[in-house]
Amino acid sequence: MTKFPDGFLWGGAVAAHQFEGGWDVDGKGISIADVMTVGDNNTAREITDGVIPGKNYPNHEAIDFYDHYKEDVKMFADLGLKCFRTSIAWTRIFPNGDEIEPNEAGLKFYDDLFDELHKYNIEPVITLSHFEMPYHLVKEYGGWRNRKMIDFFVKFATVVFKRYQNKVKYWMTFNEINNQTGLNEWGLFTNSGILVQPDEDAEKAMYQAGHYESVASALAVQIGHEINSNFEIGCMLAMGPVYPASPDPKDVLKAQRAMQANYWFADVQCKGKYPNWLKKYFERKQFDLDITLEDLDVIKAGVVDYIGFSYYASHVIRADKSEPEDYMTPTKNHEVKNPTLKRSDWGWEVDPLGLRYALNWFSERYDLPLFIVENGLGAFDKVEADGKIHDDYRIDYLRKHIEQIKLAVEVDGVDLMGYTPWGFIDLVSAGTGQMDKRYGMIYVNKNDEGTGDLKRSKKDSFNWLKKVIETNGSDLN
Ligand code: BG6
Repeated sequence: MTKFPDGFLWGGAVAAHQFEGGWDVDGKGISIADVMTVGDNNTAREITDGVIPGKNYPNHEAIDFYDHYKEDVKMFADLGLKCFRTSIAWTRIFPNGDEIEPNEAGLKFYDDLFDELHKYNIEPVITLSHFEMPYHLVKEYGGWRNRKMIDFFVKFATVVFKRYQNKVKYWMTFNEINNQTGLNEWGLFTNSGILVQPDEDAEKAMYQAGHYESVASALAVQIGHEINSNFEIGCMLAMGPVYPASPDPKDVLKAQRAMQANYWFADVQCKGKYPNWLKKYFERKQFDLDITLEDLDVIKAGVVDYIGFSYYASHVIRADKSEPEDYMTPTKNHEVKNPTLKRSDWGWEVDPLGLRYALNWFSERYDLPLFIVENGLGAFDKVEADGKIHDDYRIDYLRKHIEQIKLAVEVDGVDLMGYTPWGFIDLVSAGTGQMDKRYGMIYVNKNDEGTGDLKRSKKDSFNWLKKVIETNGSDLN
């Protein structure tokens, strides 16, 4: 089989709050990630009212990349990365989110980081907002329920676009913007800073926040292109294809509905307009959302250049007997297990073919370049007697996914910009706050209790991925 296109962006992905640490240094403000405690597979993370002394907040130190970035970037270069996806912590730049002037120390940190990356010819790929908006904006303004967020976000985006216009070319606006469609409290909080109140309609709050974020994203795209016409600015979506549980047309329609409900954000960001079904749905539900004609013009003029997306698992859905006629039950997903697939230790279905399906689905529907900016296996790793981590299970996962990516590119003709496996250096899980849910090719000695000397070492998957990158994907053995 032939190789990937020249210039293919092989890389690795992380997010500021999950690996930087340094949560309160050099003027950084408190972010929403800083008030989330550690959980596990069976225990949800607690969202506390401010930072409460004595609680275990895993993102506070994370893996302390803030103080290790030079040695870490050197290791990234050894791995052969062509690009490195991270996010800018909004609270390093605007600690509270509503200041007039940015925090110079925060800006300087990313200047230094981008310089360090360029020293090794590693291209930064930057997400503006990855689950870590300023906590002050949540407390003071109610998060993305409030239209004022648009101005705060656009200001933040403008400052960093201008500052790094010669250091960063690839951008994404909001990480997994559609991760809140499931309406779980955690998803709404991390995406939009919304803790649903007892008297609040969670679905309405999600649509309103999603609309303001879409407007902010579209404005950022326009402003970014004015600052540097070479910028490539993408959206970022969580992709989990939803399959029908059976050939029963009810299940098929239900699965189609679930996909529509999950990807309306993509319609807005890529096509510049709301899908018709959703306009009808808004009318029927009488949400009375704040969506102005001017907003719709902004959305139209601010479509993205590419689609960045994460892919971990697929889902299966069944229409139950009480399914309403409109097949819209966003809060009750009726998900069932896929009997044909194995699951990870955290119950995520492992489905390499689903990635090829996803690539084709996006490609056909939006006709834009695609960028797989997250993929990987969260697993327990064991340091063996020889002091090494033999993570053949991770290699197997990545190999099978890359094989499907190759088919999508070479057989299906999908236009793919790059592939950045998630958490290629161990970091704090967003879902559970654990360190022991590891995705990395680089091991970091730290555990769920927060102890460990933070020493970095190479797992077997490090050498495997290094070879894959060196051969531009032709040697996957
Ligand atoms: C995506 C997020 O949802 O999945 C990442 O963009 C996250 O921030 C990743 O870490 C994996 O999820 P988890 O819960 O295993 O960390």
